[in-house]
Amino acid sequence: MTISEKEMVILSGTSNVALAEKIIDAFNEEKMRIALGGCKFTRFPDSEILVELACNVRGRDVFIIQSTSYPVNWNIMELLIMIDGIKRASGGRITAVIPYYGYARQDWKDRPRVPISARLVADMLTTAGANRVLTMDLHAEQIQGFFTIPVDNLTARPLFKVLFDELFRRMIEDSKEIRSMDDVVVVAPDVGRVKLTKRLANELGTDMAIVVKDRTSAHDVQTTGFIGDVKNKVVVMIDDIISTGGTIINAANVLKEEGGAKKIFVCCTHSVMVNSAIEKIEQSEIDMVLVTDTISPEEKTNWVFGDTERVIVGDVEPEKGERKIDQVLGEDRFKRSKKIKVISVAKLFKAAIESIHENKSVSALFYSNKIIDLVRSEVNALVDEML
Ligand code: R5P
Repeated sequence: MTISEKEMVILSGTSNVALAEKIIDAFNEEKMRIALGGCKFTRFPDSEILVELACNVRGRDVFIIQSTSYPVNWNIMELLIMIDGIKRASGGRITAVIPYYGYARQDWKDRPRVPISARLVADMLTTAGANRVLTMDLHAEQIQGFFTIPVDNLTARPLFKVLFDELFRRMIEDSKEIRSMDDVVVVAPDVGRVKLTKRLANELGTDMAIVVKDRTSAHDVQTTGFIGDVKNKVVVMIDDIISTGGTIINAANVLKEEGGAKKIFVCCTHSVMVNSAIEKIEQSEIDMVLVTDTISPEEKTNWVFGDTERVIVGDVEPEKGERKIDQVLGEDRFKRSKKIKVISVAKLFKAAIESIHENKSVSALFYSNKIIDLVRSEVNALVDEML
């Protein structure tokens, strides 16, 4: 029996159940009748975790959806424990689906006596028993090389491209702020994003510019200038992560105050958004921020430290004392913002999971119009909201 003939099981850790449910919905929209496999999670008073599988995984093609976002160490450990449990329950092939890969920014020794934690996480996943990894917009593409197992690194760029194509098409049609794509420029907020920026600029048919940034600490960045022409232009700034918001906010200030940019749109895959990043963005020069749901939009209340609690995820009925998580635990943190819009990556992950299961090409998905067709209606609705 080949792997594609084996039944697929999709499980989710607790970090982004809303995305896992959306991936399942995307399968079911195509009448594939897949349910999220049941798992029970117990957290003990000393913060240890127990994960019990409530479905049969023997010999199956198992996908575990778990972003290693805040609380990062907890979510990594939960994923490792799930992989170990599946291995010991005789699971077939195990794919760790990690929409947001935490620790990716520790990917090289930028000074002496520091670890390369992105490599350590890769080693832990492989040692636990993962056979493959499916992820998105790794902070550095070469992190793939830290693994000795196959890694598929998806990108959210096609979503941004299709959205901005549609937004600018309508703005040009209505003579709203721009007359042609010559009035738009795609900007890298630092040198690390130059390649990504060039790709998006080519796809949108615009010029590009680069902001010069120095990171002074984990919380602070200094923006000293920019290269390129942004005067009277609408800027699209693209980044992989928004954490404190410092990078994009400082860049927006420089581009508007020194460069004379007319409007600033930002698109970014991973909305880490710590501290008061949302409030800072709200008060900034930025006009709109488009993020994806690789990280759950919920407020990170999660479980209170010291509680012994059992929560369940997926297709299993709660017993006495158990709480089911189906969508989000807390409030949607982006409800506090008028500027932040969220576009889902669920259909991209669904298509990639299906391709992996059926041993079909994953990259082919991105060379065809398939992805664009899948997200067209969601994009149109978002653009209606923006205009
Ligand atoms: C850095 O190289 C990344 O691509 C992001 O620009 C950075 O992580 C964003 O962090 P912050 O929002 O704290 O400036």
